[in-house]
Amino acid sequence: MKDAYSRDVTYLRLSVTDLCDLRCRYCMPAGGVPKLPRGGVCSVEELVEITRQAVRLGVRKVRLTGGEPLVRRGIVEICRGVAALDGVEELCLTTNGTALSRFAGPLREAGVDRLNVSLDTLRPDRFAHMTRTGRLEDVLRGLEAARAAGFTGTKLNVVLMDGFNRDEIPDFVELARRSPLEVRFIELMPIGQGTRERFLPAAAVLDACPELEEAESSGVARRYRIPGGMGLVGLIEPMSRRFCRGCDRIRVTADGRLKPCLHSDREIPLRGLSGEALRRAIAGGIAAKPPHHSMAETGRSGASRNMNQIGG
Ligand code: GTP
Ligand code: 5AD
Ligand code: SF4
Repeated sequence: MKDAYSRDVTYLRLSVTDLCDLRCRYCMPAGGVPKLPRGGVCSVEELVEITRQAVRLGVRKVRLTGGEPLVRRGIVEICRGVAALDGVEELCLTTNGTALSRFAGPLREAGVDRLNVSLDTLRPDRFAHMTRTGRLEDVLRGLEAARAAGFTGTKLNVVLMDGFNRDEIPDFVELARRSPLEVRFIELMPIGQGTRERFLPAAAVLDACPELEEAESSGVARRYRIPGGMGLVGLIEPMSRRFCRGCDRIRVTADGRLKPCLHSDREIPLRGLSGEALRRAIAGGIAAKPPHHSMAETGRSGASRNMNQIGG
């Protein structure tokens, strides 16, 4: 279905939990988040029904997000249910990778097509500091397990932060050179715990690695080839190069509320609805998509929720 600005909405980002095993400083409050009451998150059946109705409105790609989707009980069952729906052409999942060594095989078998893994540093001490609770080696083992399970096209999401990982840009590019990964540098957005102090424009990547050669863009990322390299480098620049004109997505939070835009507080409750009523509510959400966000003008996201509740 097209929205009011003729953008075809074909991509559903479905958050399956707002919980996470990590406490990344720019995403989660130190103490974590209060657990939603029992029954506060959508059931497997509700998630599948939301997807079924979204597909009838033209959605073809589904991404499961969190929080961290792999801490959700029944995640493999959710993947199986969504993948089995007619019309779901691509099922993807964005994960922090800490539990991937256990889950890569089962996710593959359940029908997940592609993984994006969030990893902001390749240094164990920095990883421990940034995530407050995590271990880098778990994520590296997870990436290896994903490869062994047969996943291809895996992307690594690196949120750029001045004074934290700017000096690691060449290391990440080197990783993309010698492995078949797309390493995507993401500009830090002023949403949730994200502040502007550490903001670093993605152009810093091109300054640090002038050898990168422009390639075809994909989704929200501008992409670059590395001469002689196996992988690719991507730049996601919500702040310096707003990509809203090509926006093709809607989001549903773990508690079942449709967000027409990541950066707006507008939410449409979907719980309790099914069939045609649900489809009408989703269509209303698509019709309510704003033309763009206004972070550059206001300095802040219009959304008051944390990223862990929206799924990015
Ligand atoms: P692909 O299907 O592999 O292209 O994944 P994706 O980029 O759609 O999803 P992913 O979960 O890996 O998100 C990457 C980054 O882009 C995250 O930091 C998201 O918050 C950000 N992002 C994704 N969608 C949007 C969007 O609609 N608006 C803005 N401003 N940022 C977005
Ligand atoms: N700005 C940019 N990206 C963010 N993410 C979480 N918070 C922010 C933020 N404030 C990223 C995560 C993950 C993706 C889903 O969103 O690192 O890769
Ligand atoms: Fe779409 Fe909103 Fe993201 Fe812009 S900020 S790309 S309108 S979801």
